[in-house]
Amino acid sequence: MTQDELKQLVGQAAADYVNANVPQGAVIGVGTGSTANCFIDALAASKDRYLGAVSSSVATTARLQSHGFRVFDLNDIESLTVYVDGADEIDAQGAMIKGGGGALTREKIVASVADVFVCIADASKRVDVLGQFPLPIEVVPMARTAIGRRVSALGGVPVLRVQKDGSPYLTDNGNEILDVKGLRISDPCGFEALVNAWPGVVTVGLFAERGADLCLLGTETGVERIDYPKR
Ligand code: A5P
Repeated sequence: MTQDELKQLVGQAAADYVNANVPQGAVIGVGTGSTANCFIDALAASKDRYLGAVSSSVATTARLQSHGFRVFDLNDIESLTVYVDGADEIDAQGAMIKGGGGALTREKIVASVADVFVCIADASKRVDVLGQFPLPIEVVPMARTAIGRRVSALGGVPVLRVQKDGSPYLTDNGNEILDVKGLRISDPCGFEALVNAWPGVVTVGLFAERGADLCLLGTETGVERIDYPKR
């Protein structure tokens, strides 16, 4: 199976999970990226079962709306039963690197209010130790260099994310992203707390303190469900 086929497989599995476990009339938290897009497309068939969705990015909002989903502002929602999103890497405890698509801040906010975080990923995303995928850090632009120095002191190599024309990539929130290479993150919760405390960091793309509760992993032999212990 190709990676795209595996993404479609887990997107459908996540839609099946939501239809089986989330009450009718609920609002669904929806992530960002190519795997999350497969989930949106699969859930569209049962769109009328739900009141709508809370989105984690401008791109996801557009995709949800193209299927006719109503998209709510998170401020108008009291609770979310479930949040479904992809990952760039996921370890055996359900800690993840996210933000390859640049939506890490809104993803972390929406995930933080959901009862259950369902990660959907193809098997290539499963790792023993996080850090092979460059760790995204969303930063306030004036703090970019100061944060880069702190990252370098820890042995990481910060690279400013740029667009095709060479200008800095800007998030939906108007900030920049440093992609940090060369890390081996053996203590994801500790590393997340450390980087979060640096002035100018908006969000670090480590989702460890609030990691996944379960993962639907697309493998050659089908979808494997992995449940992680409560933190
Ligand atoms: C978006 O900012 C990311 O967190 C994505 O969820 C993550 O990068 C996975 O993306 P793909 O599903 O496109 O691999």
